[in-house]
Amino acid sequence: MGPGIHPHTLPPRPQRSQPKPATTRTHKLARDNLYHPRGNTYFFKSQFLTTLPYPSGSYAGKNIIVTGSNTGLGLEAARHFVRLGCSRMILAVRNLEKGNQAKASIEHSTGCSEGIISVWELDLCSYSSVQSFASRVSAELERVDILLLNAGVCALKGPWRIVEEDEEAITVNVVTTFLLAFLLFPKLRETARLFPDTVSPGPTMTVVTSLAHTYTDFRLSRTAPEGQLFKSLSSPDRPEAMFDDHTDQYFISKLLQIFLVRAMAAECPVEKTGVTINCVQPGFVKSGLFKFESHVHGLFAVAFGMAMNGLVARSTECGSRTLMHAASQGGKESGTHGGYLSDCMMDEPGEFVTGEEGRVVQERVWRELRGKVEGVCPGVLKGLEV
Ligand SMILES: NC(=O)c1ccc[n+]([C@@H]2O[C@H](COP(=O)([O-])OP(=O)(O)OC[C@H]3O[C@@H](n4cnc5c(N)ncnc54)[C@H](OP(=O)(O)O)[C@@H]3O)[C@@H](O)[C@H]2O)c1
Repeated sequence: MGPGIHPHTLPPRPQRSQPKPATTRTHKLARDNLYHPRGNTYFFKSQFLTTLPYPSGSYAGKNIIVTGSNTGLGLEAARHFVRLGCSRMILAVRNLEKGNQAKASIEHSTGCSEGIISVWELDLCSYSSVQSFASRVSAELERVDILLLNAGVCALKGPWRIVEEDEEAITVNVVTTFLLAFLLFPKLRETARLFPDTVSPGPTMTVVTSLAHTYTDFRLSRTAPEGQLFKSLSSPDRPEAMFDDHTDQYFISKLLQIFLVRAMAAECPVEKTGVTINCVQPGFVKSGLFKFESHVHGLFAVAFGMAMNGLVARSTECGSRTLMHAASQGGKESGTHGGYLSDCMMDEPGEFVTGEEGRVVQERVWRELRGKVEGVCPGVLKGLEV
């Protein structure tokens, strides 16, 4: 059997409470109901009552790239892949010193041989860094079996930062993450073509998204002029702000990731490319993502953050199991192409994504992102043609 956990080996998904009939979301509802559309119990059941299977199987022969793997979920996923015998592990990080510390930590805990782990620079705040990283992958790696697009930011407060052309969370979580996906997609296809593996699943590209995508109704998509979605998202005067911080940008960035995974998967069918594209939400995990500081956010926020981390959050190791699972679902048989996974199972994203309005917005997001990346890197979309 191939590596990881396969859907057919898993127990059937327990029936959650009946989904509510689709309702027209109002702005107020989205503001007040900061929970999963299936209700708050879903979140707490997932956090407290779900046992995530410990990753097993062999990744021998596989080359794996994990972005943002110097810490948090990415680091723990990389540690699992190395423990399970992958041939190459590329830690794609923006800070080489932190990357080397992560490498030493994985080598120490797994006892893997030298040469398995490499630390390569990737700064998702920079188009040229993404392009250099992709060129290096194409030149130096014979194959790429798993591309785990995990790196992400959630800027809670502080100055409104524009990096390259967009607000930081939109650039890092969406634009450059997908620019990298498009640049590396041909390498994944080539891997599927040159190394058809009869015993283990084909190449996989997994984006780490979040349940937080359900916390926005993306009203900006109704007001932004055609062709100006990204520009509108990066205006500090945008109408969507829920709090006196930038949290909404994070929510929107995670929603956009799901739209883009679905759109890219539809454009690049696994039957034709051999590459599975999916996304995963890891649950609420103790990590450095949500940084509360008393002088910026106030003591209450710091205490709340500590309580949530201590009482509700999963460990990063535990959360990383969901990444391992999703990134191991290669091949059309997995049934995860274009899918959204949580708790090591297929799941449904929020109602906004799956509803009629979501379909229209998805097409628009896909169209406008394509225009944007084509401007940054002309010809990049050729690699998606089937
Ligand atoms: N923690 C949760 O509860 C949770 C829930 C749902 C989804 N997620 C998602 O899980 C993923 C991993 O988050 P985490 O919780 O493990 O947070 P984390 O500990 O803060 O890790 C984030 C990683 O992304 C990297 N990163 C940030 N900006 C980057 C850039 N410009 N270029 C390259 N790398 C960059 C960080 O590098 P530095 O160390 O250099 O900053 C770090 O390695 C994110 O996509 C996040 O949205 C997390």
